[in-house]
Amino acid sequence: MNAPRHYLQFKDFSRAEYDYLFSRTRWIKDRFKRYEPHHPLFDRTLVMIFEKASTRTRLSFEAGMQQLGGSAIYLNTRDSQLGRGEPVEDAAQVISRMSDIVMIRTFEQSIIERFAEYSRVPVINGLTNEYHPCQILADIFTFIEHRGPIQGKTVAWVGDSNNVCNTWLQAAEVLDFQVRVSTPPGYEVEPERAGLYGTGNFVQLDDPMEACRGADLVTTDVWTSMGFEAENEERMRDFADWQVDADMMKVANPGAVFMHCLPAHRGEEVSAEVIDGPQSVVWDEAENRLHVQKALMEFLLLGKIDGDCA
Ligand code: CP
Ligand code: NVA
Repeated sequence: MNAPRHYLQFKDFSRAEYDYLFSRTRWIKDRFKRYEPHHPLFDRTLVMIFEKASTRTRLSFEAGMQQLGGSAIYLNTRDSQLGRGEPVEDAAQVISRMSDIVMIRTFEQSIIERFAEYSRVPVINGLTNEYHPCQILADIFTFIEHRGPIQGKTVAWVGDSNNVCNTWLQAAEVLDFQVRVSTPPGYEVEPERAGLYGTGNFVQLDDPMEACRGADLVTTDVWTSMGFEAENEERMRDFADWQVDADMMKVANPGAVFMHCLPAHRGEEVSAEVIDGPQSVVWDEAENRLHVQKALMEFLLLGKIDGDCA
């Protein structure tokens, strides 16, 4: 049996593969908007394993698999043997014999890597402490829809250097754009944890205004990610000056867009004026999770589809 292809972090795919995925997503989205059925994954089963909460990821994977002609099964830690200490390796062997593709949202990246090693079928990272590749796939597709190619552009990341930030940094190396990161002291990017090659596609700046100056895209995320709730009070104090507000958007490029993976906390990492304002594309960004992940599942199961539809 051939080893399956997985999607565990952004750098698992090449730039050429992303070019394909973005054009395939366009085709899938357009067809969906015209109510034209597209069932390439008829009879295939997706298993979704959640060890953390989710709205968008669950909905987009479950709806997406159904729209592609397959079905989706939801498992969580609480109601399965996963929460009672069954080894990840054993779970992977069993689950992957009964399904065609698996999506996992969990804690350490090492958990999903161990699962993938023992899985007979493709495994997709639906968020770990370190990475959230499906999110950035959707974000970049959204940027392309609104502003064209991202190559050579500048992204400002303001806030915590978390899983979403790390994934932006990997994407910058693969797709060749710049990321300017501003975090409070003590929360800086850890290049090794971010899994970077060190191609010089990111800079760390103390001042969030400097990070935003001239940026084509300004983005942020919650100050406290899932799994880090014990640090919440301390983080609320430490991040107080790292709220994306109208002043930050003013120093960005006039055509800059604002993105947030959601869920958002208005008045914390972003002001209501910005997230609900004219530069915000957060609803398109959320919707595009559906379309990019349909292209992703199709690609992992069927490979590249040539012809007029790509
Ligand atoms: N952005 C995102 O992954 O949202 P959920 O946590 O709701 O899945
Ligand atoms: N950084 C956030 C993203 C949620 C989609 C978290 O990990 O909780």
